[in-house]
Amino acid sequence: MKTTVVAPANIALIKYWGKKNDELRLPLNSSISMNLSNCYTTTTVEFSRDFLQDDFKYLIREEEFSDVKEEKRVFLQVDMIRKLAKIKEKVKIRTQNSFPKGAGIASSASGFAALTYALVLALNLQLSKKEVSILARIGSGSACRSIPDGFVIWEKGLNSNNSYARSLYPSGYWRLCDLVVLINSQKKKTASTKGMENCFTSPFMKTRLATLPKRIRAVYAGLKNKNFQILGEALEEDAMNMHAVMMTQKPPLFYWEPTTLDLVKNIVLWRNEGPMVYFTIDAGSNLHLIFEEKNKDTVLHKIQSYNSKLKYIYNTVSDGARTTDRHLF
Ligand code: PMV
Repeated sequence: MKTTVVAPANIALIKYWGKKNDELRLPLNSSISMNLSNCYTTTTVEFSRDFLQDDFKYLIREEEFSDVKEEKRVFLQVDMIRKLAKIKEKVKIRTQNSFPKGAGIASSASGFAALTYALVLALNLQLSKKEVSILARIGSGSACRSIPDGFVIWEKGLNSNNSYARSLYPSGYWRLCDLVVLINSQKKKTASTKGMENCFTSPFMKTRLATLPKRIRAVYAGLKNKNFQILGEALEEDAMNMHAVMMTQKPPLFYWEPTTLDLVKNIVLWRNEGPMVYFTIDAGSNLHLIFEEKNKDTVLHKIQSYNSKLKYIYNTVSDGARTTDRHLF
């Protein structure tokens, strides 16, 4: 029987950068995110005694592709979940993204969330969403945040059993938007999972951790009171803070492109003139513009007049991982 899951990518308002346990992906700090409605992964899995080997492919416009590095990580996740189910059957997996892979739009988050939940359901494991979030985290840290709905916190926890994500507010709680401006959709050179292993080579990492509780409190307060300015200032500060660490690591990680910086400077100006819009950036050059839905037209107009050739993906806040009947094979 086939099982198909759709899982959203998420954008971190408070970023996860650094692990206290690489293997289990236990983070150094708690992070907060929202799920994205138009950036998602669909994954279909099927177990069968008839299959001779595990088979993983990703689809781009109906065409199948394989990626040895990715396959290795996927099969590790399969083995872990198969062990829980105490079965030996091989699996066929097909997966498809609604957005460019590996370009700093958290494709590993939606990918591992969809994969993990699909495997758990296909093997009838009867796990809670908390347990699924823990398993997704082991596959790829930020994937745990794509399991619950809407606005999500991943509490860093003390060990594997209490480091998981839960929903703070449902998706309809606040009509916030994330416009992902695609500056470079090529696969990034250093994956975040690798890059963050060197976080402590930056002299600023300790400061980042020491100042995080204040920003987390601000994001909490901004969300609770729907105070966009408090939320926006804190999320932007956290992104800049993480990139300052990235750029001062050894070896340094420069994810920004010249257009990233130019756009950042413009957004600061736009804000003085009118639309309340803030930005955040993950491990890539693409910019995420965060704003309230009531300002959508103004923000789209600003972007189009800045550069009409730039491509973007418009997102509102979505639910977390969920099943669908639309199988990929
Ligand atoms: O879970 P990973 O290995 O894809 O790391 C995600 C890291 C950032 O996207 C840079 C920040 C975050 O919290 O999403």
